Amino acid sequence: MAVQKKTNERLDELTRRKDLARSSGGPARVEQQHSKGKLTARERILRLLDAGSFEEIDAFVTHRATDFGTAEKRYPGDAVVTGFGRINGRLTYVYAQDFTVFGGSLSEVVAEKICKVMDMAMRNGAPIVGLNDSGGARIQEGVVSLAGYGDIFMRNTLASGVIPQISAILGPSAGGAVYSPAITDFTLMVKGVSQMFITGPEVVKAVTGEDVTLEELGGADSHAAHSGVAHFALDSEEECLETIRRLLGFLPQNNLDEAPFGDQEDDPERSDPELRSIVPDDSSRPYDMLNILERVVDNGDFMQVHRDFAPNIIVGFARMSGRSVGIVAQQPAYLAGVIDINASVKSARFVRFCDAFNIPIVSFVDVPGYMPGKEQEYGGIIRHGAKLLYAYAEATVPKITVVTRKAYGGAYIVMGSKHLRNDMNFAWPTAEIAVMGPDAAVNIIHRRRIAMSDDPAAMRAQLIEEYRETFATPYQAAERGYVDDIIDPAETRPKLIRALEMLQNKRDTNPPKKHGNIPL
Ligand code: HXC
Repeated sequence: MAVQKKTNERLDELTRRKDLARSSGGPARVEQQHSKGKLTARERILRLLDAGSFEEIDAFVTHRATDFGTAEKRYPGDAVVTGFGRINGRLTYVYAQDFTVFGGSLSEVVAEKICKVMDMAMRNGAPIVGLNDSGGARIQEGVVSLAGYGDIFMRNTLASGVIPQISAILGPSAGGAVYSPAITDFTLMVKGVSQMFITGPEVVKAVTGEDVTLEELGGADSHAAHSGVAHFALDSEEECLETIRRLLGFLPQNNLDEAPFGDQEDDPERSDPELRSIVPDDSSRPYDMLNILERVVDNGDFMQVHRDFAPNIIVGFARMSGRSVGIVAQQPAYLAGVIDINASVKSARFVRFCDAFNIPIVSFVDVPGYMPGKEQEYGGIIRHGAKLLYAYAEATVPKITVVTRKAYGGAYIVMGSKHLRNDMNFAWPTAEIAVMGPDAAVNIIHRRRIAMSDDPAAMRAQLIEEYRETFATPYQAAERGYVDDIIDPAETRPKLIRALEMLQNKRDTNPPKKHGNIPL
């Protein structure tokens, strides 16, 4: 009985201590957090993970600092909650910075806790999700805190391409702290709640004289549409956490794993005659590529990534007969689907993610070329444009391309052409595969003939038509085998699914090397 009594006392103490750890920075600070419309670290984790699956670790860890009155302010767990649980039944590691303790700032032990779950995620081959809400380096701990960031960045880098890493920004993320999310695979922000910046508005004003609000400088919309730092900008924390759950559903647990199969309710043989009327007769007219994608993939379910950044190219995840695929597609409805610097960087990163995680790449091509102009040239379209070329060329996952309309010049080669080890290339009968568009081509090769003609306009129109009939078709490419088949648009879904099934055991490698030198 005596042992029982002692155990009970100890259990009471454990409960008391756990309650204290769960109370974060205390009721007043929790109230403050809620009054800003923000959830607490624990609330976030509980919403992210499957109900009842969260296992917390290191809840009793406290900081070791003594300077500037920190010794008196010790909170069990310090400013981060860490552990593991399940998302749709699959193991996931998680950490959530706790703004109610020292503003979520990163102390030595906060870094140690984060590093511990990162190491576990790596060892056990499961994704890690970081929920960031922090004032940055714990000022009172000085360089020790900076060292902690270094330890995290190092792990982010080593984990890159091994396990999926996802960062949600659910409060401030300032200074060097932004570089952990920046190294991870996907960054999500919430409008009006998240901020990411290297220096805040006051420093910007002092250094450059520029007046800028916090939201303009580092809010969700700014990073989703302008900098491209954020892959998703969501309306609420709940939507953000739900988006992470959905995103992980398309991904494998690690680089040696396959992505999970979705349901196979959508008929793999489903043809869609509507696809025949989406590309307009006039090849200079825009259309919405999303309309095609949603008709082809399972259940019309396409998860667009980086939607607001460089909308001239579309990237995202979908399933084809249950199998996860990464889709890269031009958007002719925006800048005619031209490849500019941002489009190239956006899609190159996506292609590399898919390649690292065994996700086949399906490309839909309607591209007039690379974006011309001084601004783009000065911005480095040559080296940035090369990234996409490099990414497609280096990728060894199954690669399938459908040319719906234009595939001109260098952009034809880049967008998953046969010349970059693509596995299956389809063209719709509306495809135009050539060195350049008819107008530009005729101006160059027939300039003298047009000038000497009695009726230059009529001559020009006639030559354009001749060029279009000869070159702006898929048949020259198909004669060479650069296009494997010219298909009825209605049959795109079954054709793609059969190709993906055919390629399911594909093995290809790159030459042995330490690593390549992608033009960064
Ligand atoms: C210690 C911090 C802290 C920090 C906030 N707090 N940031 N404590 N180190 N970095 C504390 C505050 O003192 C306060 O404690 C509590 O957290 C809440 O902060 P508030 O300022 O009251 O909150 P709010 O008004 O919402 O403002 C949030 C904030 C602001 C914008 C994040 O706190 C802020 O500007 N913090 C400093 C941000 C920063 O410059 N960090 C360093 C970035 S450089 P009390 O007890 O008073 O309520 C960096 C280097 C990383 O991080 C390098 C990696 C390579």
